Amino acid sequence: MSGIKSKPYKVFVTRLDMPGDCVELLDTQVKGVNGVYCCLNDKIDKAVLDAAGPSLKVVSTISVGVDHIDVPECRKRGIRIGYTPDVLTDATADLTEARSGGWVSWAPTWMTGPGLSGSTVGIVGFGRIGQAVARRVKAFNTAQILYYNRSTRPEAKDTGALKVDFDEILNKSDFIICCAALVPETKEIFNKAAFSKMKPTAIFINTSRGGTVDQVALIEALKNNTIRAAGLDVTTPEPLPLDSELFLLDNCVILPHIGSATIEARDTMGELTANNILAALNGKEMPAEYK
Ligand code: DGY
Repeated sequence: MSGIKSKPYKVFVTRLDMPGDCVELLDTQVKGVNGVYCCLNDKIDKAVLDAAGPSLKVVSTISVGVDHIDVPECRKRGIRIGYTPDVLTDATADLTEARSGGWVSWAPTWMTGPGLSGSTVGIVGFGRIGQAVARRVKAFNTAQILYYNRSTRPEAKDTGALKVDFDEILNKSDFIICCAALVPETKEIFNKAAFSKMKPTAIFINTSRGGTVDQVALIEALKNNTIRAAGLDVTTPEPLPLDSELFLLDNCVILPHIGSATIEARDTMGELTANNILAALNGKEMPAEYK
């Protein structure tokens, strides 16, 4: 990484508090931008790409999700895209739920919920994170792990998870965990029809993107007890407005998109994002190019 400051490239970093040594590595002065270093909440759309102009060669995001980037538009312009797969898989898979509330005294039924042991867990989206979740869930002595994914994942057999169709995962799961990337095919895949097919005792967990859920339908499903509860690390929008009905529901737990928030994961993501830019600008193979 040494010597980067002598390179004639200009990289725009969208915020100064990026983790790891990335800010040290990249010149943050914007004079004619060759690279953009961004977060999942920076929309890199046509307007931004137009503003950057033809000098822009690489967009590197400190996230595994790339739904905030206009990928086809980047492709058209020959702009390479860097992202951060793998390095946050464990942290995100470790996240399950958190809670807040007045702890007055111990009570036999207060804050109780169903256990994982003996349950059927359904994982929607069986990529890196979905598979890592399956490996963890297995250790809780679950009866069965099901997964739904558009393509078959041969690696899935190591997790013991069984591929089923979307309706079956909805019908059979006690816990349904969404780990699917947000793409046109998964937009609001969890809608009114989907919630109505879940067990009334089902718990829905989302650690991927808020856009995979029709949030109005989710609120209704929680209010009407169509499903038992939800645990959300992601919402629409983010941050969730304080007057959102979701905050009023006692069967919904909300986290502020912290699935990957271990210091180790974020530092590694930060540095990988910088290294993606350096490689692209130097015409080298990027450590993690989104293809
Ligand atoms: C990602 O990298 O896309 C995650 O959502 C960040 O936690």
